[in-house]
Amino acid sequence: MVEFPLIEVEEGAAHLVVPDLERIAPGAYPTKAPVFYNPDMVHNRDISLLVYRQFLGGKGSILDMLAATGVRSVRAALEAGATRVLACDAKPAAVELIRANIERNGVSDIVEAVQGDARAVVLRREWFDIIDVDPFGCPTPFLQGVSAAIRPRRGLIGVSATDGAVLCGVHPKVCMRKYGSRSLKTPYCHELAMRILVYASALPLLRDDYGVRPVLSHASIHFFRVYLETRKGKARADLTMDQIGYVAHCMHCGWRGTGKRPRELCPCCQKPTAWAGPLWTGPLNDQELVSSLAGQEKLAPDAQKLLEKLAAEPDIPLFYDLHALGKDLVMDVPRTSRVMDALREQGYIAGPTHLSGSGVKTDAEVDAVKDAMRAAAV
Ligand SMILES: C[S@@+](CC[C@H](N)C(=O)[O-])C[C@H]1O[C@@H](n2cnc3c(N)ncnc32)[C@H](O)[C@@H]1O
Repeated sequence: MVEFPLIEVEEGAAHLVVPDLERIAPGAYPTKAPVFYNPDMVHNRDISLLVYRQFLGGKGSILDMLAATGVRSVRAALEAGATRVLACDAKPAAVELIRANIERNGVSDIVEAVQGDARAVVLRREWFDIIDVDPFGCPTPFLQGVSAAIRPRRGLIGVSATDGAVLCGVHPKVCMRKYGSRSLKTPYCHELAMRILVYASALPLLRDDYGVRPVLSHASIHFFRVYLETRKGKARADLTMDQIGYVAHCMHCGWRGTGKRPRELCPCCQKPTAWAGPLWTGPLNDQELVSSLAGQEKLAPDAQKLLEKLAAEPDIPLFYDLHALGKDLVMDVPRTSRVMDALREQGYIAGPTHLSGSGVKTDAEVDAVKDAMRAAAV
């Protein structure tokens, strides 16, 4: 067995052994552990398990490309109705832990652990209903070959990215190199990041004539997660292409817009715009799926909170951050709910975003949002 201290934890229905970070490197971030396990990511795994259970509907297979302790794999067997799970990790110590966790949870008839490079495991000539890609940093190196392993009729790919500075416009050149897309620092850069992640995850599948549709997407400060439904077919791939475009943003007045090409001049103030893309411009969530997950009983509280927030988001790309607009207007920022009410009174759609408490998703243009802020401040 591994030569570092272990601790027993319970997560979902699983009883696991994971590295005891407090004894190995007190106070260190989980990436410093000999095998990665981050207890702060439980709600993110809870969401994955809910999505996977709904997608599989009682039976099906999962490839956990970057399995670490095997927590997702074991939980998929216990909670998501998976009937076959292949858990891969490059680290021998990780695979030892995965095997120990398979044993402890009595799922050896379902979960198989394999040591190796995840980029090769997709070439084993086996179809999976779901592929989970949960790396450190950028996922694109692991997405190149997924079309060789995702079931052509219908599949689901869950993809994480943790390189927030790259995706949010701090390092746009790196973003172009890693994701083939230009990122842009804006008040809504976390949404741009999810849209770039969807685009970059779809690209290798589009090349192999797969259509791709995001069904659930969420983000926190440095963590981005998207779930993409995939189906083979040239017409479906063309439909996906129709929703790939650019975002133009006016740094002067705050106007923004999506389109097939970035608009060079701001239609409000005629100043040159900055732009991001290519990226996904269509819906980031399947509202029916999100509402049905949010309505389930006995959800973990953090997962429930996130799903309820996602269910309340209008299906409108991008959002206005009231603090950013308030700075330009040199005014105290009114309550978000009051601004949304003022917009609705004017006949606009207005709703929250899970990405910011001061964010408003609306079909109103920037001047109407500024007017609503003034009205809400009185
Ligand atoms: C962020 S961790 C995965 C966390 C895990 N999915 C969870 O939910 O706890 C990334 C894992 O990828 C593994 N890894 C890195 N490069 C790899 C590669 N080329 N092939 C397979 N595994 C790799 C690392 O050893 C590490 O365990």
